[in-house]
Amino acid sequence: MIYCANPAAQFRSHQAEIEAAIRRVLSGNRYILGPEVEALEQEFASYIGTASAIGVANGTDAIELSLRALGLGRGDEVITVSHTAVATVAAIEAAGATPVLVDVVPGYYTLDPDQLEEVLTTRTRAVIAVHLYGQPADLDAIGAYCSKHRLALVEDVSQAHGSCWRGQRLGSIGHIGCFSCYPTKNLGAVGDGGLVTTNDPQLATSIRMLREYGWRERYISEIPGRNSRLDELQAAILRVKLRHLDSDNAKRRSLAAHYDKLLQGLPLKLPQTREGAEHVYHLYVVTLKNRASLVANLNQHNIFPGIHYPVPVHLQAAYAQRVTTTFNMGVTEALAKEVLSLPLYPEFPNEDLIRVAKVIEDFSAQS
Ligand SMILES: Cc1ncc(COP(=O)(O)O)c(C=O)c1O
Repeated sequence: MIYCANPAAQFRSHQAEIEAAIRRVLSGNRYILGPEVEALEQEFASYIGTASAIGVANGTDAIELSLRALGLGRGDEVITVSHTAVATVAAIEAAGATPVLVDVVPGYYTLDPDQLEEVLTTRTRAVIAVHLYGQPADLDAIGAYCSKHRLALVEDVSQAHGSCWRGQRLGSIGHIGCFSCYPTKNLGAVGDGGLVTTNDPQLATSIRMLREYGWRERYISEIPGRNSRLDELQAAILRVKLRHLDSDNAKRRSLAAHYDKLLQGLPLKLPQTREGAEHVYHLYVVTLKNRASLVANLNQHNIFPGIHYPVPVHLQAAYAQRVTTTFNMGVTEALAKEVLSLPLYPEFPNEDLIRVAKVIEDFSAQS
């Protein structure tokens, strides 16, 4: 069986270090928000290049708490894309704000800056740039628009840990960076986890307070907050994985280059990297017209690719009647029918990659 992702393979490749980290936590005396979380926060901030990093319970909370820390809530509009994990949009609503969805650009699949003007209102307060599949969004154009209109720029870096835009790490460019550490992510825990990065000390303090009942001092709630704490076990494991993140991302890039070589010339559109960007291939996403037949064929060969995402957020039953979108969501709607994520993770064996490419090649020759 060949799956799109394989978090257990990552455990096996760092097993001794992970088991030592787990033992250290179990024999310590703090299981939530203790020394491992503090160390992870320092190490992650220094890796990303921000003054602070704050551990939270998951990536959805990272976005919700960031919007709250920015002072957003009821009546405020937040612009993002429909071609994303539904979590990005769910987090906007969890913060009490209103999501406004725009299309993505062809080829790179990230927010189309030219559509921002169409949805800007007097209530717009922030833009969430989603760095999808490991590819940075166009932060030059989005950042310039946000500065001009005094909007907060929130980076959703859940699919692009370690990626850079013009040499600067994602998560250090906007006002605040939000990361999911879901197990299959480039920096993945063995359960839920999330991180927020920022250079703004006030935002950092607010996130710390919001993640634990509004406390600055224990048991004293200064603002309404809730429980979005990170476990010591997850933090200790994330510290191990952070040490390997750059080499794991390099392995992803080299596997992606191998796919590029083997799939060149077939009737598939291969991933492209925008100029100025470093792609970290959280997902290797191709597009094609006859997706269902190729998936059926791959499945017959025990290969199980993924689809990210089959239904755009604005067409989901939970959102279709409510969310505001731009007039033209053509790229997003076409992508939902055409995207296919081929198996790729740092430990993916080259012979399996060659097998996947061969099945696709044979399928293309027959169809
Ligand atoms: C782009 C994006 N944003 C947000 C999230 C939410 O993260 P989590 O599942 O940790 O809440 C994810 C993860 O699925 C994601 O891929």
